[in-house]
Amino acid sequence: MAEPALKAFVVGHPIAHSRSPKIHAYWLRRYDIAGTYEAMDVAPSDFEDFLSTLSERGFVGGNVTIPHKEAAFAAVARRDAAAEMIGAVNTLWFENGALAGGNTDAEGFAANLDEFAPGWDRNGPAVVLGAGGAARAVVHALRQRGIGDIRIINRTISRAEELRDRFGGGVTAHGKAVPDLLADAGLLVNTTSLGMAGKNDAQVLPADPDFLPAHAIVTDIVYAPLETPLLARAGARGLKTVDGLGMLLHQAVPGFQRWFGRRPEVTPELRALVVADLKAE
Ligand code: ATR
Repeated sequence: MAEPALKAFVVGHPIAHSRSPKIHAYWLRRYDIAGTYEAMDVAPSDFEDFLSTLSERGFVGGNVTIPHKEAAFAAVARRDAAAEMIGAVNTLWFENGALAGGNTDAEGFAANLDEFAPGWDRNGPAVVLGAGGAARAVVHALRQRGIGDIRIINRTISRAEELRDRFGGGVTAHGKAVPDLLADAGLLVNTTSLGMAGKNDAQVLPADPDFLPAHAIVTDIVYAPLETPLLARAGARGLKTVDGLGMLLHQAVPGFQRWFGRRPEVTPELRALVVADLKAE
């Protein structure tokens, strides 16, 4: 008799635009694994019930996205170290019958730069634009990779200060991307929604890459559009740029491995598939 299919999910609200089902379906096909990965739209008021019925419905785990990452953090019985530092859970699985949660965004961020800008972590001070949930994952990744000078810049400086206090030594908080903060930076990361398709002022730059040195790397975690105005401007100046799609692809790897038992590869074919999907929208 065939093994029963392993069942996983991504839960969010809304969920229709999630690319995760495409990514996991590609890997299930590629590795010929009997498994499913389905998108579940669950309102915040129903989220706790959703979690409590996972195992009776046969799920081995899944991903959590907006707006449930903090609620998942609060609900799990145990968390990995990244989730503890980031304060949010994006991946769920069972450990001895208890629901466990992790956060793979920092790993995905670092793996994307490892793929497209090797040596990025030995390039000098890092500047992080934004101080929301995504910035927490980025700062965690930067700390994990030993970057000693991290400058967080956020319109609302109190949020940047909260992050500084959370991560401690080597992290500083600022309200504006003034030239002095950029002049010796080796890495500039945008985590704000500035430059995102469909947002107001999509052409506004969160910082001016003209102030960066020639060896700086510029990356954006926004991947729609793939080339944000920030990346376009940095590229026009001849700076090395890395788009945000790889972070999305790489953050999916650890979950797939936990649920389906095989570490999947982020291939050019997978990237092309998701790029085509983004263009179709
Ligand atoms: P996420 O979890 O995706 O990081 P978030 O917590 O809502 O989302 O954070 C969004 C980030 O984008 C914040 O740093 C926000 O700045 P504030 O803390 O000042 O709100 C930033 N952001 C959004 N719109 C912005 C704008 N028009 N100008 C500057 N920063 C903006």
